[in-house]
Amino acid sequence: MGELSKSRILITGGAGFLSQHLCNKALKKYDLEKVFLLDVNPNFNNFLDLPKGKIDYFQADINDAEIIESLIKKINPTHVFHNAAVINHRLNFEELENSIRSNFFGTFNLLSALKNIKLKCLLFTSTSEVYGDNSLPFREDLLLKPTSPYSISKASTEMLVRNFSIENNLPYVIVRPFNMYGEGQSNNMLIPYLFNSIIKNETINVTKGEQTRDSNYVGNICDGILMAVSTEIAKGHVINLCSGFELSVKDLVKKIIAISGFNAKVNYGAIPYRKNEIWRMFGDNSKSEELINWKPLIGLDKGLLQTFKWYQRNVKD
Ligand SMILES: NC(=O)c1ccc[n+]([C@@H]2O[C@H](COP(=O)([O-])OP(=O)(O)OC[C@H]3O[C@@H](n4cnc5c(N)ncnc54)[C@H](O)[C@@H]3O)[C@@H](O)[C@H]2O)c1
Repeated sequence: MGELSKSRILITGGAGFLSQHLCNKALKKYDLEKVFLLDVNPNFNNFLDLPKGKIDYFQADINDAEIIESLIKKINPTHVFHNAAVINHRLNFEELENSIRSNFFGTFNLLSALKNIKLKCLLFTSTSEVYGDNSLPFREDLLLKPTSPYSISKASTEMLVRNFSIENNLPYVIVRPFNMYGEGQSNNMLIPYLFNSIIKNETINVTKGEQTRDSNYVGNICDGILMAVSTEIAKGHVINLCSGFELSVKDLVKKIIAISGFNAKVNYGAIPYRKNEIWRMFGDNSKSEELINWKPLIGLDKGLLQTFKWYQRNVKD
């Protein structure tokens, strides 16, 4: 676990949900030299109140190869956590160009810049969505069946990262987080939507909720990411970060309402299923246990309660 001490870490997508949690955790866990957050977003809404001293924020687009190259030269990071991505789960092929541009070609720009420095590890954050509707539980060696422009871009970027890194001797590891939730997540995701609606006493409109998901508190995922970059034998591997349990969306809605202690009206079926719905999702986490000694520490009930309390403090009527 000592590998990150005195390191200079770069987190792409640094204004985002996962990245801010990762930055927070890394600063608490290790004596880092510096953290660089890079994001296309000019407004860094520092929702976790990250300490400014050790952090440099750069507004930059990973699609701009020249800027990325000069930034990498200037920063000279020892470790890169590549979280930046355009995320859209819908089957909308008008979105394909956008997803491929940032997620695939943006990663290519980053890789091209990284091959010129002495990097200890690149971590690429993929997603469980690359499995699509597949045999359960999702294991890392399954044939990928992505079903959206987003997951197609992620699956192809995994292949790019692997091949480019081997060719250029870049140490790398790929993680596939399953659904995450936690403080500060964007409101267009299900769990923040539920918390917001409950607190504002608004009717909840969801699908019939039969599809299942494997959900994890974001802090657990950050632990897994930090363990993956700190473990030498993990280099070159793809690792699921999941709980190993499935819960239907309907049961998740019920659980969240119960945890909140509020009354809430729910319209199941008010929203149609996605055309490319993945009906059941849960992962096999035996590889993460064996390889990086990671299992989620915070269970669903505790993680949801902690997250709900944050929304209670932060949701404005
Ligand atoms: N949230 C989840 O449940 C989940 C699950 C699995 C995997 N992931 C992956 O985790 C990573 C982080 O996701 P998140 O939930 O924090 O999303 P997020 O949207 O909060 O963060 C992504 C960040 O990337 C930035 N970004 C997008 N395009 C960019 C570009 N061209 N240049 C620079 N920055 C750019 C965005 O501005 C945003 O701040 C993503 O790679 C996502 O695919 C998320």
